[in-house]
Amino acid sequence: MDKMLVSGLSDVVITNDGATIMKELDVQHPAAKMLVEVAKSQDNEVGDGTTTAVVLTGELLSKAEKLLDQEVHPTVIVEGYKKASEKALEILDGLAIPIDPKDEKMLMRVAMTSMGTKAQSESRDHFATLAVKAVSQIAEERGGKTVADIDLIKVLKKKGESMEESELVKGLVVDKEVSHAQMPKQVKNAKIALLNAKVEIEKTEFDAKININSPDQMKQFLDEEESMLREMTNKVAGSGANVIFCEKGIDDLALHFLAKKNIMAVKNISSNDMEKLAKATGGTILASTKDLAAETLGEAKTVEEVKIGDDKLVYVRDCKNPRAVTVVLRGGSDHVVDEAERSFHDALCVVRNAVEDQKVVAGGGAPEAETAKQLRDYAVKVGGREQLAIEAYAEALEAIPLTIAENAGLDPIDIMVEIRSKHSEPQNKWYGVQTHTGKIVDMLQENVLEPLRVKQQVIKSATEAASMLLRIDDVVSSKGAKESGPPGGMPPGGMGGMPGGMGGMPGMM
Ligand SMILES: Nc1ncnc2c1ncn2[C@@H]1O[C@H](COP(=O)(O)OP(=O)(O)OP(=O)(O)O)[C@@H](O)[C@H]1O
Ligand SMILES: [Mg+2]
Repeated sequence: MDKMLVSGLSDVVITNDGATIMKELDVQHPAAKMLVEVAKSQDNEVGDGTTTAVVLTGELLSKAEKLLDQEVHPTVIVEGYKKASEKALEILDGLAIPIDPKDEKMLMRVAMTSMGTKAQSESRDHFATLAVKAVSQIAEERGGKTVADIDLIKVLKKKGESMEESELVKGLVVDKEVSHAQMPKQVKNAKIALLNAKVEIEKTEFDAKININSPDQMKQFLDEEESMLREMTNKVAGSGANVIFCEKGIDDLALHFLAKKNIMAVKNISSNDMEKLAKATGGTILASTKDLAAETLGEAKTVEEVKIGDDKLVYVRDCKNPRAVTVVLRGGSDHVVDEAERSFHDALCVVRNAVEDQKVVAGGGAPEAETAKQLRDYAVKVGGREQLAIEAYAEALEAIPLTIAENAGLDPIDIMVEIRSKHSEPQNKWYGVQTHTGKIVDMLQENVLEPLRVKQQVIKSATEAASMLLRIDDVVSSKGAKESGPPGGMPPGGMGGMPGGMGGMPGMM
């Protein structure tokens, strides 16, 4: 289910994204803040699995609490957890299924799984296709590895129409309008000049005084400026360009000259967009109009100005093999578009992970259940007190299928018994909870797939955070950089203890 987060100012965010929920929560407790960090790092590293990471961290801590009650020392638990997590990463790697990064069907399944848990399930197919096509377009081979830098995918949100109208543009969409009314609003077979300098008369850097004594001289002076601008625009036209994108400003007179030559100009483009334009069109960004030549120009089938709602946008469409693309997300309201963006981001990330690592696992709690089983076998081999910690770790992992079952309205105890019995047979390693039917089935056959990287990162983030908290045996208030409390507030050194501090933190001695 989604959550509605309401701030003190009554701003509303509706989301299912773990990272967003954790970020927006009003958290006071220092330990809880660490959990927020877990979600953040999971989101930064792999873009999905934030909820899973938080659930697992919580579970690791609560299992640790039980061990602490049995007088197991925290360092033993930390050591056991460390061993368990290393083994878990190894087990997951062994379970993973290799995929072909060009296999769009597989990538679709991965994208669909990440969006399946989100609100806009209706347009899942469409969004998954957009994500797979976008990532495949920008993925490249580098040193024998496939690299997909999803920063090259510009995601633009525009309220209006419906999510089905979201589209992938093989090129760039710039949130600017054509700079002059008389310029063409659409150019076919565009030859695009990219400039990061002003098309204006430079003001001199030193103070100079020019004496003009007669109207003739005045006219000459102005004519000279005009001819300089004309010269610059001639250079643009001379290179064969029919579109110019400029990072800086363009003089009104120059715009007028360009319009007369039927050249479309768009000014004040952000440097980020300029870089993407270069990648999309294959053009070179130049520092002066003087360097313009046919071979520096980028290309696109169409460049056009489009009006969406009240905004005008410039679409650079159908570039030949673009290295940067744009996805325009549409949706009925701001809340819908915002949440669409968040889940689309998750989809982009999981497809990237799958393309780069070429390894996936099934979902629905199956990998966690299987890892838990194998960890238990491993625990027996380790023995001693650490065995207890490793077994606790295995139990914590089982919280994932349990939580999925609970969210699907199933009885967690029945489910756990069934999952464990299934996983006792090696061929049943992908059995998990299918939330659509509420049955324990082979999740691989259900096409619920997730990148291995997400699952491994969950283990890493959760273990690190839990261990860090377990190593703490006391909390003291520190002075902070600049103490600005009320007079007589904190005693020097601040040993007064946290107000409502770690007292409530179970198991922390
Ligand atoms: N049809 C399904 N049946 C069962 N489980 C599913 C299904 N689709 C996805 N899952 C599972 O749901 C879990 C993911 O849930 P969700 O996307 O809400 O959280 P997250 O990925 O951990 O965090 P977030 O997406 O908020 O960053 C994964 O374990 C995934 O395998
Ligand atoms: Mg997810």
